[in-house]
Amino acid sequence: MDAATTVIPSAPAPQTSSTRSIADALSHHSTHHLERYYDHWARHYDADVEAEAYCGPTMVVDLLDAVAQCPAVRHVSSVLDACCGTGLVGRTLHERGYRQISGCDLSKPMIDQAQATQAYQHLYSQIDLTQPLPPDMLRRFDAVVCCGAFIPGHLPASALRGLIGMTQSGGVVVVSIREAYYDTAGFEPLLQALKDEQGVSVLQRQMSARYLQNAKAHYLALHVA
Ligand SMILES: C[S@@+](CC[C@H](N)C(=O)[O-])C[C@H]1O[C@@H](n2cnc3c(N)ncnc32)[C@H](O)[C@@H]1O
Repeated sequence: MDAATTVIPSAPAPQTSSTRSIADALSHHSTHHLERYYDHWARHYDADVEAEAYCGPTMVVDLLDAVAQCPAVRHVSSVLDACCGTGLVGRTLHERGYRQISGCDLSKPMIDQAQATQAYQHLYSQIDLTQPLPPDMLRRFDAVVCCGAFIPGHLPASALRGLIGMTQSGGVVVVSIREAYYDTAGFEPLLQALKDEQGVSVLQRQMSARYLQNAKAHYLALHVA
């Protein structure tokens, strides 16, 4: 890509930090409360997670870039950023040259922040990834990425099925999973079931890698048969 013509999306209006944190977000046990929490956090989210040295978005896009080179993986043009939040992943994807980027999230104010990044072609708000997904989102994307949402109180391991369902055959799903959540939420048996039922395989995994100042994550790249 010609660097001179690359348009780097500008950040939303400057933010100040708040008292909210990812650690607080873990304590929500209903989708309704979680949505409200992010609705109120949206304007301060980027500054707050920057203060926690959050590097999940860079790690997820690094892994997508790496597995996109695998011969078995279809060419990655369209990417869905599931649980896109304020758009940190979309901005990183755009900086790396991806142009067909869509995003979805539960929280409308988070989506409004993502919209302001100008990194996304399409944004879908109030999509709950624990519920059946709109038919027009199924088998649609070359890659689906999901960063920062496989954490306690947010997505259950079973939401991986929805991410796989939105991915075209030959495509990839790249996710972060908070380290302490991985064992307790049943990811290993689910990955075995997905392999047996649908031929989904793990292309690459980075275990106990950088995530937040005080927490690590596992990063998985899955190949959809
Ligand atoms: C910690 S933020 C991560 C946002 C972004 N991916 C990032 O890395 O900065 C978690 C996001 O997941 C969204 N979320 C939580 N539960 C969800 C669900 N059931 N369906 C869709 N989005 C959900 C929240 O609204 C929030 O924007």
